Amino acid sequence: MDLLVVGSGFFGLTIAERAAHAGRRVTVIDRRSHLGGNAYSEPDPETGIEVHRYGAHLFHTSNPQVWEYVNRFTAFTDYVHRVYTTHRGVVYPLPISLGTINQFFSAAHSPGEAAALIAEQAAEFDPKQARNLEERGIGLIGRPLYEAFIRDYTAKQWQTDPRELPAEVISRLPVRYSYDNRYFTDTWEGLPVDGYTAWLERMADHPNIDVRLKADFFDDAQPLNKAAVAGRVPVVYTGPVDRYFDYSEGALGWRTLDFEAEVVEVADFQGTAVMNYADLAVPYTRIHEFKHFHPERADRYPTDRTVIMREYSRFADTGPATDDEPYYPVNTPVDRERLLAYRKLAAAEPNVYFGGRLGTYQYLDMHMAIASALSMWSTRLAA
Ligand code: FAD
Ligand code: NA
Repeated sequence: MDLLVVGSGFFGLTIAERAAHAGRRVTVIDRRSHLGGNAYSEPDPETGIEVHRYGAHLFHTSNPQVWEYVNRFTAFTDYVHRVYTTHRGVVYPLPISLGTINQFFSAAHSPGEAAALIAEQAAEFDPKQARNLEERGIGLIGRPLYEAFIRDYTAKQWQTDPRELPAEVISRLPVRYSYDNRYFTDTWEGLPVDGYTAWLERMADHPNIDVRLKADFFDDAQPLNKAAVAGRVPVVYTGPVDRYFDYSEGALGWRTLDFEAEVVEVADFQGTAVMNYADLAVPYTRIHEFKHFHPERADRYPTDRTVIMREYSRFADTGPATDDEPYYPVNTPVDRERLLAYRKLAAAEPNVYFGGRLGTYQYLDMHMAIASALSMWSTRLAA
């Protein structure tokens, strides 16, 4: 073995694929029973509908190198993502756009009129002086839109009153003064034609790549554990950076999600892939309905049943004893201090390369994880 990759998410698999292609023999270990990290999906056993087990994953990128690279492993559908939100029994398009504004105010404002109205409402606070998330939100889009679409949704995401959240949690609240409600504005967007898992498996499908599942890097009973490989083989580590150092600088804070999947006996539950719930009265933040991600599979999917998944958000328990999945970095000032300390430790760790979402304590979209891995490969590992 020339390289050990810890974690089979997009970061780890991109490194493994590049290294195998260059003639290195790579072993990839993952503690889970499947490869692919959080992008993993599988057919629901009852309906055959592809379900994203760790939350809905939409691929989008404006990076030509990444687009060329991912197309080696999968073709993409022409799916275009759109999101709606329910507020007080009425459905509005997101992100906040001219359609949202005119529907909310029962008006027919032109783009210029709407921008002037929002500027006037936002004058209540200067976002740069905001003392908390609420003041910043109002300073960016005005009180009426903030209270309808941001306040309660944010409170549910953080289980915290937005007046008690730091202003830094939001930097911008983009408003579109047009009726364009494409959720992403990247050059390329789509879903893998035969699913995420087929794509991820093709990346690992190389004679030089050996994937071992249910293999935890910190389990001494597992032969490729941290102590056993130390100094013997280069390691690309994509697990949590604080875990690697036994939480010596303190645990980093994460938010996690709880998912509740259900098969509903209707052809169509909500008419769209993702419906947000803006109000506190509804405990979940959103509902995914997976068949809408693949309208081109209509002839293969059942017409009398559908799979929905409710999503709930909360702070993760962190540290040694937790089973919570770390999803989004909380990034408080204390977290950032701890991260700096971990980065120093990581830089001093001989022959171990920290990457990916968990290894760098950074939210990364799939295209960013892949770009970052391609860059680590070519600048630090290829030579
Ligand atoms: P991961 O996919 O998390 O992979 C890390 C792997 O390391 C895991 O498989 C884990 O089991 C393994 N591991 C950890 N510790 C150990 C250990 N001790 N031993 C062995 N293995 C270990 N991106 C988009 O582009 N579009 C989206 O719509 C999108 N939606 C998302 C929704 C959610 C809820 C989340 C959390 C992420 C979303 N992403 C999305 C981001 C996408 O999931 C990431 O880009 C991708 O997961 C990053 O890959 P990664 O390899 O860094 O991490
Ligand atoms: Na303002």
